Amino acid sequence: MNLIASLEGLVPSLQTGLERIRALSELDDIHTAFLGRKGSLARLMSRLPELSAEERPAFGKAANAVKEQLTALIEDRRAVLIAAHEEAALSRFDPTLPGRVPWQGSLHPVTSVMEEICSVLEKMGFAIASGPEVETDFHNFEALNFPHDHPARDMQDTLFVAEGVLMRTHTSPIQVRAMLERGRPPVAVIAPGKVYRRDYDITHSPMFHQIEGLLVDTDVTFAHLRGTLTMFVREIFGPDVRVRLRPSFFPFTEPSVEVDISCILCDGKGRTKDGEACRVCKSTGWLEILGAGMVDPNVFAAVGFDPEACSGFAFGLGIERVAMLKYGIGDLRLFFENDLRFLRLF
Ligand code: PHE
Repeated sequence: MNLIASLEGLVPSLQTGLERIRALSELDDIHTAFLGRKGSLARLMSRLPELSAEERPAFGKAANAVKEQLTALIEDRRAVLIAAHEEAALSRFDPTLPGRVPWQGSLHPVTSVMEEICSVLEKMGFAIASGPEVETDFHNFEALNFPHDHPARDMQDTLFVAEGVLMRTHTSPIQVRAMLERGRPPVAVIAPGKVYRRDYDITHSPMFHQIEGLLVDTDVTFAHLRGTLTMFVREIFGPDVRVRLRPSFFPFTEPSVEVDISCILCDGKGRTKDGEACRVCKSTGWLEILGAGMVDPNVFAAVGFDPEACSGFAFGLGIERVAMLKYGIGDLRLFFENDLRFLRLF
């Protein structure tokens, strides 16, 4: 019966072997050495023919029991090694280290200035209106009192798409659409959007953004325009900003004005605190910021409003210009190059 003793001797011998190993990979080698096709157990079992017929059942029973014990020992050891492995990995994790901050995108400066301007004007009661960027000559020029041969059409460096169809050169066609849609006064809308002109240099881009304002009612006066614009620029640039109106010309407003604000860098003095010439207003103390005026009767007539029964004001401003002043940006083209080093500043 010493074959059975040899079989049973495998158990302590495996135990010693398992105690010595530290890594999961070594466990597979031990498994092969004891339980593999050519392992210790298989070698002992192949000696079955040496036994007599009466001895064989006891040997078979012992072999099965030993096999079960060996397997159980290996699996127990495996569980212990896996647990130790996981604990080691956890102890390398230091929860006191500062977290990795994910990089967050931010609004484009043009977008945030646009949103700020809209929110100021919405609080004053204007509703947002919109229109197409590819416009008809009627909405962009004709209804706005630009006669066919009027030189003002050249002023705008129009990009034409087809006969009578063009990229809108300003947001003013949205005034026309808003009045046509509404059908009668009162109308109080603002219209932010992209506009297009054939122009490109440090202060001009072929695509830029404007916002248009339009108020039409029965008794709108020039004082309403001045009051609205003063309140508006103070909300955007600060409570001490002063407003100056200069006579100007737009075909769709009469009278027309150009609106200046006192320089936000030198506070209208033309010189900085150190006595140097102000580079923002070029020492004039004023910054041009808006075009505006009282809606021309011809525009009312074009949209079917009775010019005798209503009056209104309109204004338009460039968003990039406001963003450049607010953030002290010298070159308009920076807004459109999408250089992340620039965009991350906002
Ligand atoms: N549409 C004019 C421009 O682009 C600005 C403007 C709007 C002027 C409304 C007066 C009234 O230059």
